[in-house]
Amino acid sequence: MHQPVMVEKVVEFLNVQPDCVYIDATCGTGNHTRAIIEAADGNCKMVCIDKDPRAIERAKEYLRDFSDRIIFINDGFENIEKIFRDAGLDRAHGILFDLGFSFEQISSGEAGFGFKQDGPLDMRFNKNSLITAYDVINRFPKNEIEKIFEEFGEIKDAKKLAHLICMERKNKPFETTREFADFITKHRKSKKTIHPATQVFQAIRIFVNNEIENLKMGLAGAVNVLASGARIVVISYHSIEDRIVKKFMKTNERIKMVTKKVIVPDNLEVVINPRARSAKMRVGEVIN
Ligand SMILES: C[S@@+](CC[C@H](N)C(=O)[O-])C[C@H]1O[C@@H](n2cnc3c(N)ncnc32)[C@H](O)[C@@H]1O
Repeated sequence: MHQPVMVEKVVEFLNVQPDCVYIDATCGTGNHTRAIIEAADGNCKMVCIDKDPRAIERAKEYLRDFSDRIIFINDGFENIEKIFRDAGLDRAHGILFDLGFSFEQISSGEAGFGFKQDGPLDMRFNKNSLITAYDVINRFPKNEIEKIFEEFGEIKDAKKLAHLICMERKNKPFETTREFADFITKHRKSKKTIHPATQVFQAIRIFVNNEIENLKMGLAGAVNVLASGARIVVISYHSIEDRIVKKFMKTNERIKMVTKKVIVPDNLEVVINPRARSAKMRVGEVIN
């Protein structure tokens, strides 16, 4: 099961209090939500959002004991203001963004987020999105693939890689995540600790789900649904996201940064949960 990252710090920095309303903007399996409700002695309301309908189903099951305190919403956090308007909700007292994907999503292979399990070249959190990883890899022009790799994967050999992909797909389209990852591995050297296909998969996933624009919209929207003094806690897993979060916290005139330095997991957590290794947390507070 998904191991939540920096749970105690999330609860501490959200400043969880009883009788308040919190938003879990990326509910996933619901681990952080559970910790927040427990920290409020079972006495708070949660708005749990996730773009992936399967995540919402898992969270409903995992959090069934608290179902009377949770509103589940299968939507993107980029629509947070509309979500609040449509549901007639009052301002909330804190929001958590735990970005990226969950263990369940990557390990099921179903949506093709990873390559350890074979799966279709899809990578969409929600099937309503139009473009799949298959489209990017097999149909996009070379220069667009190169741009995606550079911009969202910070891949140095993006040009060469895009060229090789376009040559290979002339013979036969790439069909599965393993097949594509094996091809990348054959043509790419990478640091020992990172699989050669990791950044490539990250780049395509970010593009397919429009993750960068959505994050900017989600953060900007969050300010408008939060009460004065409410905290925004964001956990990101790569530098592209972290830069956006940092800029938002520094430049948004309605946000005061709570901690100047980025918060990271301690060594023990990284040993127990290797996924935590790249996690960075930033915290802001709404000032009016
Ligand atoms: C790291 S997981 C969250 C795990 C969760 N904190 C837990 O402890 O179980 C990230 C989740 O964000 C969801 N997600 C990604 N982009 C989203 C978006 N734009 N709006 C809402 N949810 C999104 C994914 O579907 C995934 O379930």
